[in-house]
Amino acid sequence: MKPLLAGNWKMHGLSGSAKVLARRLAELDLTSMDIDVVVFPPNVHARIVFDEIAKSDLGLGAQNMSEHASGAFTGEISGEMLREVGCDYVLVGHSERRSLFSESSDLVAEKFRSAQSSRMTPILCVGESLEQRQQGMTSKVIDEQIDAVLNLVGPSDLCRGVIAYEPLWAIGTGKVASPMQAQKVHAEIRAKLGGEGSGTRLLYGGSLTSKNAAGLFAEPDIDGGLVGGASLDGEEFIKIARLLA
Ligand code: PGA
Repeated sequence: MKPLLAGNWKMHGLSGSAKVLARRLAELDLTSMDIDVVVFPPNVHARIVFDEIAKSDLGLGAQNMSEHASGAFTGEISGEMLREVGCDYVLVGHSERRSLFSESSDLVAEKFRSAQSSRMTPILCVGESLEQRQQGMTSKVIDEQIDAVLNLVGPSDLCRGVIAYEPLWAIGTGKVASPMQAQKVHAEIRAKLGGEGSGTRLLYGGSLTSKNAAGLFAEPDIDGGLVGGASLDGEEFIKIARLLA
């Protein structure tokens, strides 16, 4: 399967820096690298980024979306709106959405379904906190997060999405999971998906940089990465992309 690298810009940068970063990444020759690279700028910069990358193979995604198709939902953005500005991917259930904005696994599942109804590929983010890991609950937590989606959309649609394993203790902390720790969880997710999941891309995320990516990408069930902080530096992000190619 084709590896995937996703760059989550979170709530950083103004239009000028988004444009410069997108322009630099658009120079990447992704055809020869045989990987997919998708950037997730703040929605308000989506059009600017789209215009910069339109002639490249770079993909565009959104960091979040509404579970509703349309209606009186002040401040929300629908899947169709994101499609219209060129988004092919959307993150659902990022841990910052779950923890800071109280998104439940059931809500995340609704968003996953809504993304697919809008013909976008959802990237379902899952992961355990440090406390949960220390209590030996990692598998249980991830199981529950995936089950919410599985129960709503069924195995085929779940497997058409992407799953990103992002341990909370690794996000933005500089504490990356070891290749062994990550592979163990990825293998469990792959097993859970069953036969249909053999082609589902499973990404690792959490303090991923060009210094630690090679070891993680070498693992058999790690099919790419979801990069936060390091994706804001064009040269660093390109280095990570080359390690995946
Ligand atoms: P990080 O963020 O790479 O800055 O740890 C990853 C993420 O939140 O997706």
